[in-house]
Amino acid sequence: MLNTTRQLLTAAYQQVRRIHTAAPVCSDSLFVHRHTADNNPDTPFEFSPDNVKKAQLIVKNYPEGHEAAACIPLLDLAQRQHGWVPLSAMHAVADMLKMPKMRVYEVATFYTMFNREPVGKYFVQICTTTPCMLGGVGSDVILDCLKQELGINPGETTKDGKFTLIEVECLGACVNAPMVQINDNYYEDLTVADMKSIVNGLKRDKVPVAGPRSGQDNRFSCEPKGGLTCLDTPPRGPGFKCRTDL
Ligand code: FES
Repeated sequence: MLNTTRQLLTAAYQQVRRIHTAAPVCSDSLFVHRHTADNNPDTPFEFSPDNVKKAQLIVKNYPEGHEAAACIPLLDLAQRQHGWVPLSAMHAVADMLKMPKMRVYEVATFYTMFNREPVGKYFVQICTTTPCMLGGVGSDVILDCLKQELGINPGETTKDGKFTLIEVECLGACVNAPMVQINDNYYEDLTVADMKSIVNGLKRDKVPVAGPRSGQDNRFSCEPKGGLTCLDTPPRGPGFKCRTDL
């Protein structure tokens, strides 16, 4: 009997589904805030008069009582003015929207588009997710090129404060892989020569034209390189009778 019970227990134990977990990958920035000399509640921040007007217009987009919905656009405005979002900018947004500071912290720490530490004048985000890793020359090669050209590793800023380099997940331009985002611009279909010329342009503060860089067959956006295979005639407009109307 004992034997049978033991056998049953052993069999049951062996059938327990094992849950495998991958080793946690740590982000290169802290999610929690720690006061520093550059970033504390006394860091000077005030919306400029122009941005106060813009902020008021943004807030008006939302119904009365729902002003908190303007939190993301106002944090973005603060970031565009200051270059990054210090704690004092979050407080300015909270005051403007009459919402608890904690609610603004929650938004600012959740969305990675908000930089809670100073970044360089050119913020280089290289996508290293699978399609970019496999597409064209591959993001590994582009990343190596960036490291070499800028002399920094991901998570670092150049000594002159001009470039910050980080690795990011998919930026939604997979069909034009590999790609990087620099400030608001996407540079796509990259080769090593493209990447070098973009960086060299920025070193001289010449911002290269954004978009795909597929040589002679420059794509306008993400259409097939061989030309369109559908939707190649002008739209016929709302008066057009489709088959079901006949
Ligand atoms: S995988 Fe790089 S943009 Fe989507």
